[in-house]
Amino acid sequence: MKKTLLLKVDPLRPEPEKVQAAAAFIKKGGLVAFPTETVYGLGADALNPKAVLALFEAKKRPLDNPPIVHVANTNDVHKLAGQVPKEAELLMKTFWPGPLTLVFKHADAVPKVTVAGLDTIAIRMPQHNVALALINESSCPIAAPSANLAGKPSPTSAQHVFDDLNGRIDAVLDAGATCIGVESTVLDMSVNPPMVLRPGGTPFEALKKALGDVRLHPFVVAEEEVPLAKARSPGMRHKHYAPNARVFLVEGAVPAVVAKVKELTEAYRLKQCKVGVLATDETMAAYSANAVKSLGSRFNLAAVAQNLFRLLREFDSEGVDVIIAEGVPAEGLGLAVMNRLRKASAYNIVRAE
Ligand code: TXA
Ligand code: MG
Repeated sequence: MKKTLLLKVDPLRPEPEKVQAAAAFIKKGGLVAFPTETVYGLGADALNPKAVLALFEAKKRPLDNPPIVHVANTNDVHKLAGQVPKEAELLMKTFWPGPLTLVFKHADAVPKVTVAGLDTIAIRMPQHNVALALINESSCPIAAPSANLAGKPSPTSAQHVFDDLNGRIDAVLDAGATCIGVESTVLDMSVNPPMVLRPGGTPFEALKKALGDVRLHPFVVAEEEVPLAKARSPGMRHKHYAPNARVFLVEGAVPAVVAKVKELTEAYRLKQCKVGVLATDETMAAYSANAVKSLGSRFNLAAVAQNLFRLLREFDSEGVDVIIAEGVPAEGLGLAVMNRLRKASAYNIVRAE
């Protein structure tokens, strides 16, 4: 086990000596977790195959699921991507830095392990001064999946990273909680029209406004497991965002949802299960369970997104057996929230009528 160095850093004006210390690990082929605006990432030099392989090992991530490559300037995109369509130039101008990952055909120079043998590469420019400073100081694009053990909810604080990866990575840059709370939107620009492979921090509505024609992959809105052969993004095939507890997701009109959540809570408490309810500000007073937590207001889906992964982790650390979660509207950031909740529930979706 290695010693994992914790470097507390100012989120807006990161101290140069701390960024240099972290970049020194990246340059040597080491692994550093760092904050982005979405979730914490686990970084390695994207052009160093050994470092990227170590990244997969530290996370226990299957080798067929490539990380996102993070850049601090658009020149690097042209070095990593084979072709950059003009719609992508527009998106980069409009949404970068920010929570939008673009998938391109990749250039020959990119190591195979970095793209998991695919002919495409996923690239984004994060909107966080610490992430940008680390990339600049390391003088290389940084491959960074979310800094959690594979299958666990993504980390929205340095403590979450520590809980999963302490002793497995070189350092963590701790700049406090992340502000968006769900991962970036992954948009495939190698197909026409472009297709959203993972909903995330950039709302679909905003992409539609910018592009006109853009599609949602059926996986994104799936309410049940979709046949594996249809996956276009390796991440779609893997179990994701799953807390240890069994999760039920209750969807429908709010009064019916509240009644159904109560009914399920009662049923599982009678079975001697420790039950957690994932509610919203407007509904939480209606429940009594071993733990009731609010995601935030149903009218503020950005807050709901920000709290989601933290609350799933809290339920786990409290040893809850069953989590009963309310669905929220699948619009704006709510689309990403519902996609993560459906996956966390392994499509255990209960319709409340
Ligand atoms: O917000 C985020 O995107 C965070 C922060 C750290 O930037 N990163 C993140 O990375 O969530 P990760 O590795 O956990 O998720 C990357 C997703 C996976 O679903 C993966 O399958 C997909 O992007 N992906 C990567 N390369 C791809 C490619 N060439 N084609 C299609 N999907 C790809
Ligand atoms: Mg991830």
